[in-house]
Amino acid sequence: MGTNPNTDSKTIEIQRSNLGRALVLHPVLRGVETVRSPEASLEEAVGLAAAIGLEVAQAAVVKVSQPRPATLLGGAIEQQARLIDEAGEAGEAIDLVIVDHALTPVQQRNLERAFGAKVIDRTGLILEIFGARARTHEGQLQVELASLTYQKSRLVRSWTHLERQRGGFGFLGGPGESQLELDRRLIGNRIVRIRRELDDVRRTRGLHRKARAKVPYPVVALVGYTNAGKSTLFNRMAGADVFAKDLLFATLDPTMRQVVLPSGRKVILSDTVGFISDLPTHLVAAFRATLEEVQSADIILHVRDIAHPDTEAQKADVEAILADLGIDPERDPRVVEVSNKIDLLAGAERDAALARAGRDGNACALSAATGERLDTLFRILDGRMTAGRELVELDVEHGDGATLAWLYAHGEVVGRRDDDSHAHLHVAIEPAMLARLGHPGQGHAAA
Ligand code: GTP
Repeated sequence: MGTNPNTDSKTIEIQRSNLGRALVLHPVLRGVETVRSPEASLEEAVGLAAAIGLEVAQAAVVKVSQPRPATLLGGAIEQQARLIDEAGEAGEAIDLVIVDHALTPVQQRNLERAFGAKVIDRTGLILEIFGARARTHEGQLQVELASLTYQKSRLVRSWTHLERQRGGFGFLGGPGESQLELDRRLIGNRIVRIRRELDDVRRTRGLHRKARAKVPYPVVALVGYTNAGKSTLFNRMAGADVFAKDLLFATLDPTMRQVVLPSGRKVILSDTVGFISDLPTHLVAAFRATLEEVQSADIILHVRDIAHPDTEAQKADVEAILADLGIDPERDPRVVEVSNKIDLLAGAERDAALARAGRDGNACALSAATGERLDTLFRILDGRMTAGRELVELDVEHGDGATLAWLYAHGEVVGRRDDDSHAHLHVAIEPAMLARLGHPGQGHAAA
């Protein structure tokens, strides 16, 4: 950010204070069945707004008896517009209305007119969050691509990523109308350039992954609904300092850390972006990179917020996406279900959660926040590491200390006989793990 002369901290502060106050509306359309309660959905939307530092002045579930193509909200507009007026008269003007639903460009424009305030829809909100959270170059490019594509159809917004580069804080209090003139062609050119850049980044990423395949540690990927506690668990397991706070989407790009299990075996832990219900399709595509990590993982920890009222619906969402990735959550032996936040449960609820998790060798219940029962997860992981081991005979040159050390670290050396040149070993080890060693004797795998 420092490279842009407009982006000193003062500018950002002024712009931030311009963010203003937001009204969050969750429309409930008559005749449309939803799994979640409207209140829980509203709460999630408020959480998303808070995740980008907005002050949520008011929030409401809006019942829409007759959805209108022109405004979606139809007759429900009046009441909300009145509310906004009243807030303005009371000196507490509402500058932004977030409609927790997809809006067409026309609906968005009409609502802005009716409310006299900026309006963004759910996609816009999620894009803002992704934009604020993207940390790697690839993540940033992907978010930019997604927002440009989204924006291309609605050249009326002033919240683009381009603005951010010009020193604004995105759409919320950006430099305003000048940006509206940014024409389609310019955006089209930018999209082409980003695609090209993404191809380059992906190529290097492929190389990195290949390099990692040689790393002789299994990869454990954490997946889960947003706010389930993945980052907290990641930190707890890795002792690593990863951005974790009470914000949705604190994690965007995969973060990898090496973790030593109690047995001394090492794994690589990979944190991923949280899943969310109704994620617009082009955003799912935009974040495929984080999901690719999951596909190639050796173990997949599905972290659940077991204390959340919608925990079952969240589980179904995550499992549906896993299924899209070709991972069958019921049958794929790589999936381990982690019921998190048991510290928030008491009595019978807690007992039930523990019993459910205890019944299954592929599940555990714990608290990432307090560390309670973390050992049950480590035990499962260690168990996975030992399952499927085979006894193999290996001859390793004495000079190849690296390979010897690797075998001791990752297998169980159950017998050893030394002669002048070689160590003849009997090692209990997983075939897949052994394959990671590459060619014993060259010693490169021990790095
Ligand atoms: P995203 O990055 O949005 O996908 O979230 P995440 O799944 O990484 O969640 P994160 O670790 O950021 O935790 C979300 C919130 O839940 C934070 O406020 C945590 O402090 C809280 N939390 C996480 N684990 C626990 C737990 O075991 N018990 C309790 N009480 N709170 C927890």
